[in-house]
Amino acid sequence: MNKLRSFILASTILAVPALADTPQVARGQYLVDVVMQCGTCHDTPDARGRADPAMRQAGGRVFANVGLRAVTPNITPDPDTGIGAWTAAQFADAMRNGRRPDGSLIGPPMPVEAYRGISDGDLAAVWAYLRTIPPVRNPVTERSSFPRSPTRFEPVATVPAPPGDDPVRRGEYLAVTLLHCMDCHSPRVALDRADPARIGAGGRVFQTPSGPLPARNITPHPDAGIGAWTEAEVWRVVAEGIGRDGRRLYLTMGSRAAGWARMTEGDRADLLAYLRALPPLE
Ligand code: HEC
Ligand code: HEC
Repeated sequence: MNKLRSFILASTILAVPALADTPQVARGQYLVDVVMQCGTCHDTPDARGRADPAMRQAGGRVFANVGLRAVTPNITPDPDTGIGAWTAAQFADAMRNGRRPDGSLIGPPMPVEAYRGISDGDLAAVWAYLRTIPPVRNPVTERSSFPRSPTRFEPVATVPAPPGDDPVRRGEYLAVTLLHCMDCHSPRVALDRADPARIGAGGRVFQTPSGPLPARNITPHPDAGIGAWTEAEVWRVVAEGIGRDGRRLYLTMGSRAAGWARMTEGDRADLLAYLRALPPLE
C-alpha cells in the first residue's frame, strides 16, 4: 500500500498535499507537522532562511556551533536523494538508534536521544505519513561533525504507547520524547543525554548574537522554576513564543510556536499536567 502510494505520487501527481486518508497517516501528519515538527530542521531553507514550501523535508538547513557543522538530510520519499529506498525497519533504526542503513551514526542536532522513546504506533504513523509527501530531488551528502555519544549504541526495539488513563505519563511522553522540551531544558551528563536527577532544571546554553542564552528551569519550583506562573503564561510561551514578561522569545522557542499552537486540547492539558508534576528543583 505504502509502496503503491509513493509510486503513484512519484510518477504522476507530484504537487498534491499529503493524502491524510487513513487514521494512521493523519496521526503521522499531526506528529510530523504539529508536534515533532521535523520541518523546522528538515525543510529546505530559502535565501532568507525560511522554509521553502516546495521543498518540504528536502533537507539542506545548516547548523553551525563552535566549529562543528551539520546539514539536515533529505527525508522525502525520493529514492536516490531522500529515504524512499529505505525500509520501515531501517527508518526505525535511524529514529531510535541513530543509525543509517549503511551503519554510520546520525549525529546531533537530530534529537535521537528524545526519539528513542517514540511508541511503536507513533513511529509507524510518522513513517506512513512521510511516504505520502511529495518526493523532492535534492542531494545532501554532508554529515554532522558533532561528536556522538556511546548512548546511541543501546538499541531500542519496541516501545508501548503511554497509558491512556494517565495524563502525567502522557504529558511526559510529549515533553520528553515528541516535543523534546526536556532535551533543552535539562542539564546534560553526556552530549545527548540529560541528567535523570535534574530533569527540567534548566540546561542547554544557546549561543545567540546577543550572548549566551540558557534554556531556563521549567520545574514547579516557585522561585527558580515556573511554579508561580499561570497555565496561560506557560502555554503562551509554547504556543506563541512570548515570554512571561511579554518578550518575543529566541528562535529555539519562537520558531516552533505556530505549530505547537495547533496541538490538541488533550495534548496541551497532558503537557501542562506533566510540567506541574515534576519535582521542584532549584
Ligand atoms: C533539531 C533538528 C532536527 C529535528 C527536529 C529533526 N531532525 Fe532529523 N536530522 C537532523 C540532522 C542535523 C540530521 C543529520 C545528522 C548527521 O548528519 O549525522 C538528521 C538526520 C535524520 C535522518 C537520517 C537521514 C539520512 O539520510 O541520513 C532521518 C531519517 C531523520 N533525521 C528523520 C527525522 C524525522 C522523521 C524528524 C521528525 C519526527 C526529524 N528527523 C526531526 C536534524 C533534525
Ligand atoms: C531547542 C531547545 C528548546 C526546546 C525543544 C524547548 N525549549 Fe523552552 N526554551 C529554550 C530556550 C533557549 C529558552 C530561552 C528563550 C529566551 O529567553 O528567549 C526557552 C524558554 C522557555 C521558557 C521560559 C520563557 C520565559 O518567559 O522566559 C519556558 C516556560 C519554556 N521554554 C518551556 C518549554 C516547553 C514546555 C517546551 C516543550 C514544548 C520547550 N520549552 C522546548 C529552549 C528550548
